[in-house]
Amino acid sequence: MKVEIAVNGEKTTDDVEPRLLLAHYLREVRGLKATNIGCDTSSCGACTVLVDGESVKSCTVLAVQADGRQVSTVEGLAGDDGLHPVQRAFQQEHALQCGFCTPGMVMASVGLLSENPHPTEQEIREGLEGNFCRCTGYHNIVRAVRRAAEGADA
Ligand code: FES
Ligand code: FES
Repeated sequence: MKVEIAVNGEKTTDDVEPRLLLAHYLREVRGLKATNIGCDTSSCGACTVLVDGESVKSCTVLAVQADGRQVSTVEGLAGDDGLHPVQRAFQQEHALQCGFCTPGMVMASVGLLSENPHPTEQEIREGLEGNFCRCTGYHNIVRAVRRAAEGADA
């Protein structure tokens, strides 16, 4: 089936199998390997991306379901002026260890902050509860999201 999907603002038309998952489409068809696949049970969140601005686990969505939509991955977050504020906050708060969960965690955080720009700590924890960090770095991840929300730069 033909799909036309804009990924990080770049639209292409691709012929895909109807059951190709969006996660595999991003990695194999578009060559964007930052979106990790950490489970086969839709439970880890490593594959989180934004579809039309909403965070979704890309292993739970078919590529054909993203036809005509805008998909954002962590590769597209940084702009001409450097890292996205959420990426910068993760760096400043040392919110990554092995980094496997990080692309999904960052995208889930961007999605969370776009829905709720000033979340409480509890809301951050609840908003990210679908994303697992095997290194258990949750404390600094929550601090990073708070920092991004506060726009703290120091
Ligand atoms: S790979 Fe998608 S939730 Fe784990
Ligand atoms: S930093 Fe290793 S899984 Fe989260």
